[in-house]
Amino acid sequence: MIKVSPSILSADFVNLERDIRALTPAGADYVHVDVMDGLFVPNITIGIPVVAAIRKITDLPLDVHLMIDRPIRYVDDFCKAGSDILTVHVEADTEENTLAALRRIRENGVRAAISVKPKTPAEAVLPYLPYCDLILVMTVEPGFGGQAFMQDMMPKLKAIRAYIDAQNPACELEVDGGINERTALVCRENGANVLVAGSAFFKSADPAAFVKAVKA
Ligand code: DX5
Ligand code: ZN
Repeated sequence: MIKVSPSILSADFVNLERDIRALTPAGADYVHVDVMDGLFVPNITIGIPVVAAIRKITDLPLDVHLMIDRPIRYVDDFCKAGSDILTVHVEADTEENTLAALRRIRENGVRAAISVKPKTPAEAVLPYLPYCDLILVMTVEPGFGGQAFMQDMMPKLKAIRAYIDAQNPACELEVDGGINERTALVCRENGANVLVAGSAFFKSADPAAFVKAVKA
């Protein structure tokens, strides 16, 4: 099943409740929450209290994308704040600590996920694959919404789809960055089943039609 996860980085933060309540009628499957620390990426966004606040106003699963250094320090807090899927970057710590973070996330009853930046090769997911419920392939350099889709990530996406099918078929495969109706189709053809969309979703005049088009 194809799922759409609108990234609230492109929502109107003055009207965040309104924009989040509009996601269910638009047919969204998840709420994508981008957490940035100004270290792992050159931008700072939102943190634990905002995740907890969002938890109170939606029943949609919260798909929380941590773009922070050494995320093991904060995974318990983000789980307790109400995350349903919690994603850490493989580049953000040692393999040992990343595995410990995934274990900790699952111990909290939350779905554990890893993400890879554009320059990180497909093979980098292999040590984590048995312990993951979702893999997120970045199709832009993480840090900002509204960037151009990197089509050259498609061979990597396809390779990770093959690893998932062979080793952990229940694992979801998500893409994030520059997703619109056209690029979503390319990502689906290369094996993605969860599509994050920030600017394209929130700029759309008809978000329900946008979601339908992305899934079609
Ligand atoms: C980028 C974030 C994305 C971002 C996507 O670092 O992880 O989730 O919001 O925005 P668009 O869809 O505008 O590229
Ligand atoms: Zn994201």
